Amino acid sequence: MPPPENEIGKDQIIAANKASWNEAAERHRSHDQYAALLAGFARPGFSVLDATLTGRLEGLGLEGKAVAQLCCNNARELLSVKNLGAGSVTGFDFSEAFLAQGRELAAAGGLEAELVQTEIAKIPASYDGRFDLALVTIGVLGWMPDLAEFFGTARRILKPGGHLVIYEGHPILNMYDDRDKRLPPVADESYFRRAPYRSDNGLDYWRNEDYASTAFFWNFHKMSDVVMGVLRAGFAIEDFEEFPHDVGNHSHLENQPQQLPLSYILVGRRED
Ligand SMILES: C[S@@+](CC[C@H](N)C(=O)[O-])C[C@H]1O[C@@H](n2cnc3c(N)ncnc32)[C@H](O)[C@@H]1O
Repeated sequence: MPPPENEIGKDQIIAANKASWNEAAERHRSHDQYAALLAGFARPGFSVLDATLTGRLEGLGLEGKAVAQLCCNNARELLSVKNLGAGSVTGFDFSEAFLAQGRELAAAGGLEAELVQTEIAKIPASYDGRFDLALVTIGVLGWMPDLAEFFGTARRILKPGGHLVIYEGHPILNMYDDRDKRLPPVADESYFRRAPYRSDNGLDYWRNEDYASTAFFWNFHKMSDVVMGVLRAGFAIEDFEEFPHDVGNHSHLENQPQQLPLSYILVGRRED
């Protein structure tokens, strides 16, 4: 039983979250969306990436590039990057069960992808300086108890001059309960919360319904924590834009009279 949220340490957060992600994997495996991904990757050139991310990646140029994804889950985005022309793709995630799905999706598309089971901070030194681009997408930073360590790892695995691309849900969404679809939205949490948020109501964002799960912990990072974290890790920021479109489970918040920022993209270049 993990301790309460205000007493929990980094290692306990990571161990608890790993158990919850592995537990959630079977729920995704049996979901229609997984069958749709298997069918999708069987088609040449299939991609799940939206126009915003595709445009930014194409702008940086993927042809022949070595691309890494931090927290790749079932590799649906990583395999899409491969289909967009990347030279090689490598995904890192601590969930063996999700990586097994990634291997199945890769096989469905006859796509080559290296999928490595590891906690992000523990990515082996053999990957240091190997990548042209490191991708972080949709629902990753909140799992990280230590952003400085996370961005430090991203920098470590990039070549000098390599790019970090973050395409994420906006941290303002931490103020709203995911399951509460009321409009206008009612904020029930402080944007400036420090303690991680503990839940044992499940993290299956495909079904978006509660289930009794092992405890997991979500970490609150402000937009300024992300921007300053990237800068302090040794990146120059080349691009940063907030968007009114949703990249997760908040599509009901799109097109509102008082539009919240729902997502953002940030591109950093490793400075040496
Ligand atoms: C919300 S999922 C990412 C989903 C993905 N962007 C997509 O849209 O398909 C977050 C992933 O982060 C992984 N993860 C969370 N904390 C991690 C850590 N400390 N080290 C490695 N992987 C981690 C989980 O196993 C999970 O697969």
